[in-house]
Amino acid sequence: MTAVAPLVKLPFPKQPKYGPAERAAVLQLLDTGHLSETTRGPATASIEDAFAALAGTAFALSFNSGTASLKAALHAVGARPDAGVLMSPMTWISPITAAFQAGSFPVFADVGAESANLDTSALTESGDVSAVLVTHAWGLPAAMETLTAVAAVPVVEDCSHAHGARHAGSPVGSWGTAGCFSLQEAKSVSGGEGGILTTNDQAVYERAMSLGHHPHRLQAELTLPELVATADTGAAHKYRMPALSAVIARQQLASLPQRMAASEANLAILRDVLHDHAAPIAVPDPGPGSVRGWYGTPLRLLQPGADAEALHETFAAQGIPVRRIYPDWLASPLLHTPALLHRYWPHLQHSPWRPPDPGAFPHYRQARRSTLILKIPTVAADDYMAQVGQALVHVLTHRS
Ligand SMILES: Cc1ncc(COP(=O)(O)O)c(C=O)c1O
Repeated sequence: MTAVAPLVKLPFPKQPKYGPAERAAVLQLLDTGHLSETTRGPATASIEDAFAALAGTAFALSFNSGTASLKAALHAVGARPDAGVLMSPMTWISPITAAFQAGSFPVFADVGAESANLDTSALTESGDVSAVLVTHAWGLPAAMETLTAVAAVPVVEDCSHAHGARHAGSPVGSWGTAGCFSLQEAKSVSGGEGGILTTNDQAVYERAMSLGHHPHRLQAELTLPELVATADTGAAHKYRMPALSAVIARQQLASLPQRMAASEANLAILRDVLHDHAAPIAVPDPGPGSVRGWYGTPLRLLQPGADAEALHETFAAQGIPVRRIYPDWLASPLLHTPALLHRYWPHLQHSPWRPPDPGAFPHYRQARRSTLILKIPTVAADDYMAQVGQALVHVLTHRS
């Protein structure tokens, strides 16, 4: 049997993830002989100042992971053991476990009919919660003006897919009481690993810092009466960002605008091909005044009965660079095994937490059936994107 060549014949266009600027920054740091900053040293200050500028916030605080920044944010805004954190299941697992880690628990709600983000109606229907966690899923900003207007409790944004994104003219990470960004390697700004918390609220900044930054930094920066007496310890988790990650991420942030522009131009080429052929597939748009971030981009299959799982195999066989959305956490054994949950997070033994109904949330179910994530090159890739568009059209129009 002869193998049939895939429809996408060109290789995925890419440049090295870390280039000369990152290399120079690492070497320069090594030459200083200091890879660990216990205070807000030069590498730490540089990445924090750059993220505060990106998000337009008064403060940015660095962490060694996005997960640690989420835990710290939920702790700092007052997530409570007796009232959970409202969130959609359309996210990575660690925003969910961050609620447990912060001494609270997730309260799940549906996404919008046309969006992969938390639906505003969830805020009025959810009962008593102590915080709301909104993931800007796959770079498309959530409707923050409505969510923040309706929420009666602090809103934390998870911007891990959305570095540089803007909603209605304002950067993600500036809308909520706090914003969190992962700098893990798959993200559009990477330090290898790392996380950032942005906020305009000094109390949130200090409480988040007290959880896992070094006493040298706590002694230098804490001012809140509730915290100053403990500045020689804090909670002594270890959450600060290694200086190596900070200097790499700083260079990545400097080149983010070029990658965003190239990704945007590539997506426009794809859209044109799909539009010209009236392909039954939608590329969700961030809306007027908004700018998408990049963690792949979602494609919504419009054919009735579309099955993203089956199409994933077909698309991938044709060389189309798709991946599945996240696993369905609502069905994950972790959330349905009380013995394990109680061992990891003992406060759940005396908590209103209840395991989620894996069949709930019709919009989330529909989004799972109809959404695939398309990887978009971060360098100019006109021919490649045209080929991907034509391959998508071909597969969708030749399906029985
Ligand atoms: C939406 C979202 N939130 C949080 C995280 C966790 O970030 P980290 O891996 O840096 O802890 C991720 C990582 O993939 C993510 O996609």
